[in-house]
Amino acid sequence: MNGKQLVAEALQAVLPDWSMDEVEAKIERPKDEKLGDYAFPAFTLAKTLRKAPNLIAADLADQIDKSNFEKVQAVGPYVNFFLNKGKAGAAILQEILADPENYGARDLGHGRQVTIDYSSPNIAKPMGMGHLRSTVIGEAIARILEKEGFKPVRIDYLGDWGTQFGKMMAAYKMWGNDADIKQDPINTLLSYYVRINREAEEHPEYDDAGREWFAKLENGDAEATRLWKWFREVSLERFKKVYDMLDVHFDSYNGEAFSAKLMDEPIQILRDKKLLVKSQGAEIVDLDKYDLPPLLIIKSNGTTTYITRDLATAMYRKQTYDFFKSVYVVGQEQEVHFNQLKACLKEMGFDWYDDIVHVSFGLMSLNGQKMSTRKGNVVNLEDVLNESVKLARQQIAEKNAGLANADEVAKEVGIGAVIFHDLKNYRRNPIDFSLEEVVKFEGETGPYVQYARARGESLLRKGGIRDFSKTDLSKIGSEEWDLVSFMGRFGDVIQRAMEQYDPSLIAKFALELAKRFNKYYAHTRILVDDEAKEARLAVVQAMSNVLKAALQMLDVKAPDEM
Ligand code: ARG
Repeated sequence: MNGKQLVAEALQAVLPDWSMDEVEAKIERPKDEKLGDYAFPAFTLAKTLRKAPNLIAADLADQIDKSNFEKVQAVGPYVNFFLNKGKAGAAILQEILADPENYGARDLGHGRQVTIDYSSPNIAKPMGMGHLRSTVIGEAIARILEKEGFKPVRIDYLGDWGTQFGKMMAAYKMWGNDADIKQDPINTLLSYYVRINREAEEHPEYDDAGREWFAKLENGDAEATRLWKWFREVSLERFKKVYDMLDVHFDSYNGEAFSAKLMDEPIQILRDKKLLVKSQGAEIVDLDKYDLPPLLIIKSNGTTTYITRDLATAMYRKQTYDFFKSVYVVGQEQEVHFNQLKACLKEMGFDWYDDIVHVSFGLMSLNGQKMSTRKGNVVNLEDVLNESVKLARQQIAEKNAGLANADEVAKEVGIGAVIFHDLKNYRRNPIDFSLEEVVKFEGETGPYVQYARARGESLLRKGGIRDFSKTDLSKIGSEEWDLVSFMGRFGDVIQRAMEQYDPSLIAKFALELAKRFNKYYAHTRILVDDEAKEARLAVVQAMSNVLKAALQMLDVKAPDEM
């Protein structure tokens, strides 16, 4: 329980008509510390009690149980609360130390399932930075939801269907070299794709060939299917290498191809509800009344589209997982697409359309320019991760040459740096990518947080105590209180991060806690032998636990030594 909650609890006991939440919402922090840690404005009760605010404040101050406070004082229409820092701090510490992994967790989910569609790269194309963003944001959201008692279903909705595969096959038939594909599948397939797109300008028949191959694929042609399977397999193998590095694991890899087989039901519903309209040989759904462009459901050549597959996917997920929410972590350039998806589901009569949540994020640019696979203006994700690990390894060699598992720690630090760099910014802000920024280990970075915690762990090893069950935790003073009361806010931060699908709140909390700890560490002789030594070490242990839990929610490792 944090300080504010202690105040709310004491007030609620004398205001039986109010709920804890209602009381808590009214509690303020006085601008001047001399007026206490918290204040309650009694005039909010004046109407109901038909009494002067000053009198109400005086009565409340009189009646309240003061065991958690140094002083409770009525000043004009306010009741001011001075926390008993020893007591309040001890309560927070006790809670953290008793169950570090679940500290701050609230069972808001009751085991309800939330599907999370994230990462979702396209096969036969390199995973771009947009997919990195989706992967790390999606994974963090899954972990935050898990913490709050939901059951996330992690889905990698592979882009493994669509006209581009027709093109790829046509290109392969003309120029394909199996040995090259085996050696470097993604880049080789990509080079075919780039070439056919380039040359199609002079050879329009290439486009026709591409369309024909995709139609063959949709009709289950044996060769087209074999090629498709092969391209998909070699691509997925490469993606999984990155997922392993990031420690991300999916429950399902059902992508667009899987959904392409589920098209009958949504199309039938659209027909029954008379929502499909013919337009230039194609069939569309009009979304004029939502101020949205029409949906192209069936193309003039009879093939399906990205949005049709998403309609089928949404229905399948509802039927299969009975989701509480269905989250899609996809760049904001697809905002219209998801608005169309929701509007169409609503038209189809599904009352759960509003449970579709598009968690969008800003573009990642490279040196101020838009990244584009076609133009070759991209960074390769695997290279970035490897480079970051290499730099972390160098830093360790300089600063802690004797570290036993240095290679392992370098991975945890290097990869953690890339993940944290992405998550510390509010997701909808655009970020410009620069490797130097990512692998900077000072300032507001993942390694900075990891390092603060490792410092604490080193203190704890020196201090030699790990069991604080008999420690008098109320021995903490005001320097410790600053750290401890901040840790007391963890639960609120997690809940807000969950409600807003915003991992940056957790990252910022971790940064601030690391900063406060570093300040504390610089100003306090923690290991000096006095009656408060154990309590100080307990604070360090609690800090280490909370930082670890925060990093874990972000999918960043917390090495004990670095
Ligand atoms: N494969 C798509 C892309 O790379 C993202 C898919 C997102 N998920 C979805 N259900 N539409 O742009």
